[in-house]
Amino acid sequence: MLELKNISFRTRELGGGAQSPADRTIIHDLSFTFESGRFYAITGPNGSGKTTLAKLIMGINELTSGKIFFNGSDISKLSIHERSNAGIVYGFQHPARFKGTTFRDLLSIAAGSDDEEKLGEIISRVGVCSRNFLDKTVDSKLSGGEIKKIELATVIAKNPKVAIYDEPDTGIDLWTIGPMVELLKREQKENKTTTIVVSHNKAFLEAADTLLLIRDGKIGYSGDLAGAVPILEDLSVCTFSELCQGEVNAQCYR
Ligand SMILES: Nc1ncnc2c1ncn2[C@@H]1O[C@H](COP(=O)(O)OP(=O)(O)OP(=O)(O)O)[C@@H](O)[C@H]1O
Ligand SMILES: [Mg+2]
Repeated sequence: MLELKNISFRTRELGGGAQSPADRTIIHDLSFTFESGRFYAITGPNGSGKTTLAKLIMGINELTSGKIFFNGSDISKLSIHERSNAGIVYGFQHPARFKGTTFRDLLSIAAGSDDEEKLGEIISRVGVCSRNFLDKTVDSKLSGGEIKKIELATVIAKNPKVAIYDEPDTGIDLWTIGPMVELLKREQKENKTTTIVVSHNKAFLEAADTLLLIRDGKIGYSGDLAGAVPILEDLSVCTFSELCQGEVNAQCYR
């Protein structure tokens, strides 16, 4: 069980120029409990705070206030590495690329083994059919979809207790999205992985046991997809002319 208790994240940004820094609260006093072994989808407008929330859980961003408990232990002060050792793993929205490092190198570190059969088994689970793919360099020459598949494989290789995927479908071809949803559902069911997927994709929203809608750094809704549909439709009625008048409202974006 992963429990977020009144968490907030505030950052200092340069408001009206370098002379007037202003505080901005990105996550506001948010509380939620992720039950073990369930599948959650987090959705919401661009800029609403989804990635920030994921990074707070992983310890990449430091909490301004509040606490995070994992199976009853307070992990709020633990480093990324310590949280990873505890079984919480995060797949980045924009994975890093490393010149001179191969997929095999990254996967071996994640799996804790460079055994060819084991690596072959992991890549086949994520739908990579050719073992030659293991020798690809994880650099800027990789396509957007290829880097996301590599990121997915390195998360799964760690056999996480809690897996957080930040828009795993970005840049992924249409033919792979269905199998990707099935893969994550299988990991959830067979390994009892608490699965949290940040996504705008209907396929993930439909697959989730519980959907969280983030608006302006708060949970606007949590529950099933049917209950979220009227809210999601309401978010999509903003017209282009509204966006063009004066203040841009992040909630208006689809
Ligand atoms: N470290 C930071 N410093 C300043 N601003 C930040 C920081 N991290 C995030 N933000 C801002 O907080 C807001 C929320 O960002 P976040 O990346 O969490 O959005 P998101 O919901 O994941 O959006 P998207 O759907 O586009 O991925 C954005 O306006 C972003 O610019
Ligand atoms: Mg994001």
